Amino acid sequence: MNIAPNGLPNPDVPPPDSLSHVPVLATEVMEALAPAPGRVLVDGTLGGGGHTRLLLEAGATVIGIDQDPYALNRVRAANLPGLTALEGNYRDLRALLAPLGVTRVDGVLLDIGVSSFQLDDAGRGFSYHTDAPLDMRMSQSGESAADVVNTYPEEDLAAIIYEYGEDRHSRRIARAIGQARADSPITSTVRLAEIVKRAYPGFSKGIHPARRTFQALRIHVNDELGALRDGLGAAEDLLAPGGRLAVISFHSLEDRIVKRFLRGSSTLTPLTKRPVEAGEEEQARNPRARSAKLRAAEKMPPRSTGPEGTS
Ligand SMILES: C[S@@+](CC[C@H](N)C(=O)[O-])C[C@H]1O[C@@H](n2cnc3c(N)ncnc32)[C@H](O)[C@@H]1O
Repeated sequence: MNIAPNGLPNPDVPPPDSLSHVPVLATEVMEALAPAPGRVLVDGTLGGGGHTRLLLEAGATVIGIDQDPYALNRVRAANLPGLTALEGNYRDLRALLAPLGVTRVDGVLLDIGVSSFQLDDAGRGFSYHTDAPLDMRMSQSGESAADVVNTYPEEDLAAIIYEYGEDRHSRRIARAIGQARADSPITSTVRLAEIVKRAYPGFSKGIHPARRTFQALRIHVNDELGALRDGLGAAEDLLAPGGRLAVISFHSLEDRIVKRFLRGSSTLTPLTKRPVEAGEEEQARNPRARSAKLRAAEKMPPRSTGPEGTS
């Protein structure tokens, strides 16, 4: 791996195994977005470029966005014809597309959360399995997970772990973090995982108790739910009549936001009543697909206004 002076992998140099991300619910996403020549689609979560490749192969033009410079450089290095790759947060969709003169698009895809590249890259600090600096920032800017863990009051840490990790032992974990950091700052993933494990009552085997705490910190550090709320609104505004929105979420907190947003929207009509889940075969082939839920919707044409201004 190429290491930059800050000790993290160098974002300018794509690793040799470049694009190999397996896109989740690929067939269903293709059906929802109906890519075709002449259609301009936004992939707000470019990641490994898995979905984007399929959209391009179907002849669509794709504007791909990712806030992670490592992901972006990997995809850019593949020189995919028809793709414009932009670094940024999909919550800023409108501002990102404005310099391109794009004010209407035919489809938006959000495949939210972290990619397998990010999870597998030990240096990023997303995983409790391998020791790494406690970072977790997709965009490499803002507060890191170590900043949060070492400076937030225990009540705030407990609230984050409870709300975003849905862990009922949140207070106990926050207290353990408070005690441990009084000895020395918590700067590594494995140390945090050990602190959580020791604070967890009766753990012997099964899913590591740190899983929920790590999920919570990741969601907080990247403001994932705030970005999702903003991104859904931005996508709704940008879609042309007949344009499609497809959102893949991976846990109930995200899916709830998408479901409520679609319910409350006056311009988007859901294409399916229930979220679409991966079939058995895909779940067996790709464990990441097991918790994936796809919701898709279509933008309605504007209501025609009658002569007296009534609709
Ligand atoms: C699950 S992966 C996407 C995988 C992609 N669909 C594929 O098939 O290769 C999610 C990607 O979205 C990026 N991401 C997450 N939240 C984002 C946000 N708010 N704005 C821009 N990119 C974001 C992450 O950095 C990650 O690379």
